[in-house]
Amino acid sequence: MSGLDNASARAEEIVSRCKLLASFSEDPAATRRMFLCPAMRDCHREITKWLNAAGAKVSVDPAGNLRGFYAGAEANAPKLLIGSHLDTIPNAGAYDGVLGVVLGVSLLESLGGRRLPFAIEIIGFSEEEGVCFSTPFIGSRALVGRLDEELLNRQDETGSSVRAAIESFGLNPAEIQHAALKDETLAYLEFHIEQGPVLDSLGRPLGVVEAIAAQTRIEFVFLGGANHAGTTPMYLRHDAVAGAAEWIVAVEHTARNTPGLVATVGQIEAQPGAINVIAGSARVTLDVRHGIDEICERATQTLVRQAEEIANKRGLSLKQNVLLKQKAVRMDAFLIEQIDQAIRQIGCDPHRMVSGAGHDAMILAEKVPAAMIFLRSPGGISHDPAESVEVEDVANALECGMQLLDQLAKSSEFQKRMCRA
Ligand code: HGY
Ligand code: MN
Ligand code: MN
Repeated sequence: MSGLDNASARAEEIVSRCKLLASFSEDPAATRRMFLCPAMRDCHREITKWLNAAGAKVSVDPAGNLRGFYAGAEANAPKLLIGSHLDTIPNAGAYDGVLGVVLGVSLLESLGGRRLPFAIEIIGFSEEEGVCFSTPFIGSRALVGRLDEELLNRQDETGSSVRAAIESFGLNPAEIQHAALKDETLAYLEFHIEQGPVLDSLGRPLGVVEAIAAQTRIEFVFLGGANHAGTTPMYLRHDAVAGAAEWIVAVEHTARNTPGLVATVGQIEAQPGAINVIAGSARVTLDVRHGIDEICERATQTLVRQAEEIANKRGLSLKQNVLLKQKAVRMDAFLIEQIDQAIRQIGCDPHRMVSGAGHDAMILAEKVPAAMIFLRSPGGISHDPAESVEVEDVANALECGMQLLDQLAKSSEFQKRMCRA
């Protein structure tokens, strides 16, 4: 076990802080915290208190990312980023994203004023899930200089843009470039729940992420002819929902028969959406993922072709809009080894794995060495209020984090990276 004697008490506090932040929501009956909504301000206020008490200087960058800077032993020391996202899906659990930020704060508290050869910046990203604007990673894209005009102008279903959301939060979109990383960043480390069943099925508390799967997100609209449900014979129909339904079954069939592939139709919207009207249009979304880019791309092409064939056969037209094409991303080999060593050092048995879930680490990896530590998801449940963590796993993760910081502080490779930064 590393030198952290009160890890369990701190772990209990981390869990209760996550539950407190989960109560900051746009929805009184569930946890829902979208990009720069008012509830995000409540989150920022609480986390700022904790960061200030831990000796960090807090700011909010023009993309709405909360940033807590904990200086190193030397002025202008290069920095290690530790963070995750603060936004949630609708009807979320209490740990997806938030845990990585709160655990980072607890690492600063556990340092107890001790300064390392590198600075640490805790980051709470403003938007990772991609719910409002059908585009994930808005916050972390600002750090790698990819929050561009096109994305700033992207609109949600109410017609309100990313730009407007930033302005109504009291920030200035014209200053987005100030959010970008400068050269002095050494690496990015993200603690996150696994959100799947692997660690739980293996009985392992912590995982080391080797890569994050490729993912493609596409929006389709099947267009047919709305008509009267009572008077239109079946053979005269161009039913958009029936066409979409046939394709959704084909999506599941293709994914079940492609090893390692997952494909999901998460949203379906019928227009006009009346019980006695044949749907004129059906909007559906596709999320396809695989650890290997080529397989993800090939499967996506198959699914698009199947949608076109079904639409053709049924006399429907088809509109499609690619929302995201994200390649698989490998994590930094040196940091993977360091994390593996730190997990062993605290007496746990690490499991190396690919992440099926997307994470901000895959964006940061474009600019800096990135790595992730997974915590077991009991029952493999996530993206649901039943999402949970074991306090003991959180304590292990905290111990592992402290062990890792000490290892990096002594590592000659990290020293070299600090000199290059
Ligand atoms: O959808 C995902 O992969 C992540 O939870 N944002
Ligand atoms: Mn997440
Ligand atoms: Mn998520």
